[in-house]
Amino acid sequence: MVSRVEHPAAGYKKIFETVEELNEPIPATITGVIPSWLGGSLLRMGPGQFEVGGEPLNHLFDGQALIHKFDLKNGEVTYYRRFVRTDAYVRAMTENRVVITEFGTAAYPDPCKNIFSRFFTYFKGIEVTDNCLVNIYPIGEDFYAVTETNYITKVDPDSLETLKKVDLCKYLSVNGVTAHPHTEADGTVYNIGNCFGKNMSLAYNIVKIPPAQGGSINVVQSGLCFLPLMSAECVYLVACGCLHLFIFSMCVCLQTWFHLATKDPAAYMSSHKFRASAFNLFHQINSYEDQGFIVVDLCTWKGHDFVYNYLYLANVKEEWEEVKKAATRAPQPEVRRYVLPLDIHREEQGKNLVSLSYTTATAVLHSDGTIWLEPEVLFSGPRQAFEFPQINYSQRCGKEYSFAYGLGLNHFIPDKIVKLNVQTKETWVWQEEDCYPSEPLFVPTPGATKEDDGVLLSIVVKPGAERPGFLLVLDAMKLTELARAEVNTIIPVTLHGIYKP
Ligand SMILES: [Fe+2]
Repeated sequence: MVSRVEHPAAGYKKIFETVEELNEPIPATITGVIPSWLGGSLLRMGPGQFEVGGEPLNHLFDGQALIHKFDLKNGEVTYYRRFVRTDAYVRAMTENRVVITEFGTAAYPDPCKNIFSRFFTYFKGIEVTDNCLVNIYPIGEDFYAVTETNYITKVDPDSLETLKKVDLCKYLSVNGVTAHPHTEADGTVYNIGNCFGKNMSLAYNIVKIPPAQGGSINVVQSGLCFLPLMSAECVYLVACGCLHLFIFSMCVCLQTWFHLATKDPAAYMSSHKFRASAFNLFHQINSYEDQGFIVVDLCTWKGHDFVYNYLYLANVKEEWEEVKKAATRAPQPEVRRYVLPLDIHREEQGKNLVSLSYTTATAVLHSDGTIWLEPEVLFSGPRQAFEFPQINYSQRCGKEYSFAYGLGLNHFIPDKIVKLNVQTKETWVWQEEDCYPSEPLFVPTPGATKEDDGVLLSIVVKPGAERPGFLLVLDAMKLTELARAEVNTIIPVTLHGIYKP
């Protein structure tokens, strides 16, 4: 997947520019053939307004939340988008200035110096943002647009109207939860947040929202499991659901610690301590148990330098040569497989405990009882990230699998869609000149048994085209184009979304 594609015209700047919302859905022009069974809505979140009152919002994660929808029905496709009426948006529009501090934009002189300090804003009395630009997911019958704070916003997935701001602190003992929950087949939502532990120490809290009757967030199980937070700085966190276990990784300064918790009954496995070299992490691909080991596949960025610091809009809106230069200084991306042994015996010190035949990942027990992990690299290319990973979630989540789909970032600029066979490391690429795609969502063919029998849906922007925004439908097996539905509007960058059948 080494990219030879260059972007001297810097067309990508267009996906970081403010757009207006639409008054009504607009029809798309379809080329190719959309599978007849594909009838539903693609809902995606992203930033849509990148400045307020003439002042720029500084970071990729600061723009005001815009919800996008492509509707596919009876062979026709429409596109619609609305700004979410969050407090951050409404007050900014009313006062014509940034009122609530965002990740990288302070509303007023801010004692916090970097983005990560948002974690500590709870202690400093700074108003926490509800700008839900990161993701949208269902809880019961309802749909919530979310960011990584304690506020989530209920939206109508059909009209895209904003319905209600919900403060999770009222239901859960958390300061905030991630925007990337794990959702079970029955609708149970698991997530992890940070909270206060014993004696006001910081801890992590795994929470469970069962699929309530009538779709309600009122029934939750908070405090399923508390984990100690090991350091007051440099903590990254990811939660992923295995069949029986939760796995967390935290990068504490120069090392990463993996933590395990059992699912039922929920309990922290304090005797299993796994360490690895430092990495940044936004997304995990999948994880599963096999013969007494947990296999965890992750989209990592090597080292402890904070990747967020390279995602300021001023950086990604630079000319191409400058974008490349900045990315060269940033942590390097790598898709990695870590393997964690569950059955550990003291006498096996110094030996590699991993006996799975298909991986070169290792785990060595040290005299202090911790286990040092070295990964197997599944994909690596200079400044070429495989990010925003997706899998056949309903069929393979928490199970052995073959295929991951991702957005290819070329020096942080999204310019391709990639399929990766995590067993053979074979890759397939969809790419087109001056095209900027988004996270590819996998939708299985009804009744399919093959893991990659389905389509990938992605919103693509082609700035120079007559109709510059389109929904792309790819055959997930071969990564070839089945159809595109184009509209006469630029669509700004989107982060995460869902397909609602
Ligand atoms: Fe994400």
